[in-house]
Amino acid sequence: MAEDLLLPLTDRRDAIYLALLPQLEALVAGESKAFANIGNLMAGLKEAFGFLWVGCYFVENNELVLGPFQGPVACTRIKMGKGVCGTAWQTNQDIVVPNVELFPGHIACSSRSKSEIVLPIRNKAGEVIGILDVDSEHLNDFSEIDQTYLREIVSLIERVLA
Ligand code: SME
Repeated sequence: MAEDLLLPLTDRRDAIYLALLPQLEALVAGESKAFANIGNLMAGLKEAFGFLWVGCYFVENNELVLGPFQGPVACTRIKMGKGVCGTAWQTNQDIVVPNVELFPGHIACSSRSKSEIVLPIRNKAGEVIGILDVDSEHLNDFSEIDQTYLREIVSLIERVLA
């Protein structure tokens, strides 16, 4: 909406998430194939904000393996405890990285990535079954606003997988 352009960036982002969430819900409502739906969720999220890279990794044989994503090519496998994704898996916690160069062991799939946010995807028992990873070309691009709404999108991914 035109009036949204007058709001501070954080408020605009909030408004975009609020508009995006029901659209993402509707997008997956009529389809039962999980990876098709998750692919579209990643596309919708990337297009709404112009993030550099948006994608999921899923736990398989004690590794994270690349799943549906949008953006530059990425590393296909990540060990537990490695990089931001492997650390979020190990600790079962969201991680916001304002500057990837300051995160020890960050896995640089693209030199254009400057900041990122990573959230665990869990099964009903609360165990990590995957990771949502969102990367930005801008430093310090993610806040609690992103964490709150991306958690909603992770819930949608969890429902799609259930
Ligand atoms: N940023 C991740 C690696 C995955 S790519 O950036 C797509 C990490 O350090 O875990």
